[in-house]
Amino acid sequence: MTESFANILVRQEGRVGVVQLNRPQALNALNSALMAELVAALQAFDADEGVGCIVITGSEKAFAAGADIKQMASASVVEMMDSPFIGYWDAVEAIRKPVIAAVSGYCFGGGCELAMICDLIVASDTAVFGQPEINLGIIPGAGGTQRLTRAVGKSVAMDMILSGRRINAQEALQFGLVSRVFPAASFQEDALKVAAEIASKAPVALRVAKEAVNRAYASSLAEGVLFERRAFNLLFATEDQKEGMAAFVEKRAPTWQGR
Ligand code: CAA
Repeated sequence: MTESFANILVRQEGRVGVVQLNRPQALNALNSALMAELVAALQAFDADEGVGCIVITGSEKAFAAGADIKQMASASVVEMMDSPFIGYWDAVEAIRKPVIAAVSGYCFGGGCELAMICDLIVASDTAVFGQPEINLGIIPGAGGTQRLTRAVGKSVAMDMILSGRRINAQEALQFGLVSRVFPAASFQEDALKVAAEIASKAPVALRVAKEAVNRAYASSLAEGVLFERRAFNLLFATEDQKEGMAAFVEKRAPTWQGR
């Protein structure tokens, strides 16, 4: 990626594309400029055949302390309705390759909603999650009331959203919000190892698997299972399915073609 950005740092490690949120002066608060850059970088990685998995991360101190309060503070209802701002979260959701949120430090409000839009969250043991919007006289606006409830269940979600309760990494693991917690000292390497593992898998199957799991949130069980069945059968039209099964039978590692 040759584009240069003011609010994010972008790099590629092997088949992993890494986007690091980089507004340290505001604990990575998410403003329009940052979100536009984030979406542009994600879309570029999504279109790049050399990338199999994408990581969104922040600093050691903050993944993101929420949407930028200073940018929103004086907005009117019509300005909020007309603003493309919340649509950036939808654009992140539309990325087809696996996206991992690697969370260290504060992960609040729109930051927590950004992490939850990713396909999985891995956390440093320093991570703290919260939806503190109630303290500002508002509610989560980028999917928090819906995705947090699906992730941790009604009681914990209500607790966090109504009281502003923060939860630490171990609690987030216990409640099912994050999939793995790593020690702070090795967090960046550990998170990248998870991404590299995913990036090494068959690219078409990864995209289809992501679609199928997300379908669980958007359909009845019967419709979701039908979707899965169609998608499963479809993969038998790919060279990678033939290669994957041949490699198993021949006791060798597969070489994926992404088709
Ligand atoms: N928006 C704008 N600026 C923010 C910010 C945010 N969400 N969070 C932190 N900052 C800024 C602070 O204003 C401060 O800037 P100045 O030095 O210019 O004053 C700088 O980042 C450092 O912050 P603190 O001095 O507050 O750092 P701290 O370590 O004492 O506290 C914190 C850290 C607990 C995360 C605290 O900053 C905080 O509570 N931040 C706000 C969290 C929040 O309410 N997030 C929800 C936002 S609304 C939202 O996200 C809506 C939505 O659903 C889309």
